[in-house]
Amino acid sequence: MRSQAKPSGADVPSVPRLIICLFIAVADGSWAGAAHAGDAATGSTEPTERAAYLAKAADCGACHTAPRGKPFAGGLAISSPVGIIYSTNITPSAAFGIGRYTEAQFAQAVRRGIRADGANLYPAMPYTSYSILTDEDVQALYDYFMHGVAPVDSPAPRTALPFPMSLRISMMGWNLLFLNTEPLRRDPRESEMWNRGRYLVEGAAHCSACHTPRGFLMQEKTKEEFSGAPVGPWYAPNITADMTSGIGSWSQDELVHYLSTGDAHHKAQAAGSMGEAVEHSFQYLSDADLNAIATYVRTIPAIHDPSDLRSRFAFGTASSDLGRLRGKYGIRNQEGEPTGAQLFEGNCASCHAPLGQGSKDGYYPSLFSNSVLGSSNPNNLIAAILFGVNRTTRQGQAYMPGFAGGPNDLVALSDHDIVLLGNYLLEHYGRPGVTVTAPQVAEVRRGGPSSSLVVLARMGVAAAVTAVVLIALLMVFRSSKRRRSAIS
Ligand code: HEC
Ligand code: HEC
Ligand code: HEC
Repeated sequence: MRSQAKPSGADVPSVPRLIICLFIAVADGSWAGAAHAGDAATGSTEPTERAAYLAKAADCGACHTAPRGKPFAGGLAISSPVGIIYSTNITPSAAFGIGRYTEAQFAQAVRRGIRADGANLYPAMPYTSYSILTDEDVQALYDYFMHGVAPVDSPAPRTALPFPMSLRISMMGWNLLFLNTEPLRRDPRESEMWNRGRYLVEGAAHCSACHTPRGFLMQEKTKEEFSGAPVGPWYAPNITADMTSGIGSWSQDELVHYLSTGDAHHKAQAAGSMGEAVEHSFQYLSDADLNAIATYVRTIPAIHDPSDLRSRFAFGTASSDLGRLRGKYGIRNQEGEPTGAQLFEGNCASCHAPLGQGSKDGYYPSLFSNSVLGSSNPNNLIAAILFGVNRTTRQGQAYMPGFAGGPNDLVALSDHDIVLLGNYLLEHYGRPGVTVTAPQVAEVRRGGPSSSLVVLARMGVAAAVTAVVLIALLMVFRSSKRRRSAIS
C-alpha cells in the first residue's frame, strides 16, 4: 500500500524551510519534487506511441475535452460539491493553452497541482494521484502535449467557486495536509505485475479519485481507500477485495473484461463516469496492463460493511407483475397514477425483457444479478434511469436512453415516477430494504450531494482558509518536533 497522504516526519522539512520552499516554488515553479521510482509507461518502445498511450492511461482527455469540443481544449464542467470547476485548455496554444509551459512547470502542474503562474489548482485535477508518476512518464506526457496535440486557440470558461474556495491559496494548506509527495517504492515481496498494477491504479488510472470516500475537506480518506464514494450523481462502489462488500468474488478475467468493455455479464455494467473512464482510457490499455491492474486491485485490503450479507450482483430473480396488469398496458394509466409495474412495462421491458432477464447475448443486461440493483446505495439505479448509458468501446455502442426529459430522451419521468419504478425494481430484482425516495431522485437529478464546505462558505466563514493553513502549519510543526525529539 502507498503510504498515507499526510505529511510524515520523514519527509517534512522544518516550518521555515517549508515556507521558503513554497515561495521559491511559487515564484519560479521549480519545486519538482524528488526523483520517482517506478516502471516505465509501457512495453512499447516508439516514444510518441508510448506517450500517447500514457495520455490515454491517465485519461487526460476525459476531463480536458468538452462534449463535442476539440481534443484537450478544456471547458468540461466538472461538478464538485463546492461548485462547478472547468477544465482548462492543455493544448500547446501559447495564448490559451500550455504552449508556454516548460517541462518543469508541466511536472509541477501534473504532480503538485501548481500552475505555471504559481497559482494552485483545485484537486478536481487529480494531481494527488499523478504525484507518483515517474519523471520518465511525466517527460513523455510533456512531449506528447507539446508535439502530439493540435493547438486550439480559444479560452476555456473560468472557474468561479464560492468564497473561500475562490482563494486558490487555500489549496496550499490543503496540499500540506493531503498531498503525498513520497515516491512510490517497488515492493520486492510482490511480483512485477503487481507492482506495475499498483503504479497504474494509484497513479495514472487514479481509481481512488472516484472509489475512495472523501472527508470534510474533500481529501481522500486513505484508511478507507476504495471502499466506495459518491461521484456527482453516481456512486463508485466498494472495489476492495472483500467477498461481499467489494469485488473479491470477481475473477481476474471478469475484472479485465469489465475494464476493457464496461460489461461483466450478470454482475455489472459501466455507466456514468466509469463508462467514460472505460471509453476514453481503460479500453486502450494493453492486456498486460489490464491484467496488472486486476492483479493489484484483487489484493486491495478488504473493507467490509456488516450489512452486506451477499455480493451486490447476487440479488433478485426473473419475475414480473404482468399478470396483474393484463389489459392495462401503456406508460400511464388514464384513470390515475401509473404503478411501478406499469412504468417498467411501458419504459423498460422492451429492452430488459418482461421478466427483467435482459437479452440472451447480454447486450441488454438483466436487472437482477446486477450490482446497481443490489447496492445498498440506490444512486446508480436512479442515475441510470435519469441519464441512461452511452459507452462506446471496440465491442460497439452500449446505449440506453435517459428518462430525465433531456434533448435525446423520448420519455420524461417525474421524480415521483422514478420513486414508484425504482421501488418496484428493487423489490423484484434488487436488495430487500433498499428504497428510493423523492428527495434522493431530486438530488441525483441536480447532480449529486453537495458538501458542508459550501455551507461554510455561504456562512461567510473566512476563517476556514486561515484555519486550514494554521492546521497545516501546526501539523508540520508537531511532526518536526516529533522528529527532533526522536533524534535527541
Ligand atoms: C478528473 C479530471 C482531470 C483529469 C483526468 C486531468 N485533469 Fe488536468 N485539470 C483538470 C481541471 C479541472 C483543471 C483546472 C483546475 C483548476 O482550475 O484549478 C486541470 C488543470 C490542468 C493543468 C493546468 C493548466 C493551466 O495552466 O490552467 C494542466 C497542465 C493539466 N491539467 C494537465 C493534465 C494532464 C497532463 C492530465 C493527464 C495526465 C490531466 N490534466 C488529467 C482536470 C483533470
Ligand atoms: C471517474 C470516476 C471513476 C474512476 C476513475 C474509476 N471508477 Fe470504477 N466506477 C465508477 C462509478 C461511478 C462506478 C459505478 C458505475 C455503474 O454502476 O454504472 C464504477 C464501477 C466500478 C466497478 C464495478 C463495481 C460493481 O460492483 O458494480 C469496478 C470493478 C470498478 N469501477 C473498478 C475501477 C478500477 C479498477 C478503476 C481504476 C483502474 C476505476 N474503477 C476507476 C467511477 C470511477
Ligand atoms: C432502448 C433499450 C433500453 C431501454 C428502453 C432501457 N434500457 Fe436499461 N439498459 C440498456 C442498455 C443497452 C444498457 C447498458 C448495457 C451495458 O452497459 O452493457 C442498460 C443498462 C441499464 C442498467 C445498468 C446501468 C448501470 O449503471 O450499470 C439499469 C439499472 C437499467 N438499464 C435500467 C433500466 C430501466 C429502469 C429502464 C426503464 C426506465 C431501462 N433500463 C430502459 C437498454 C435499455
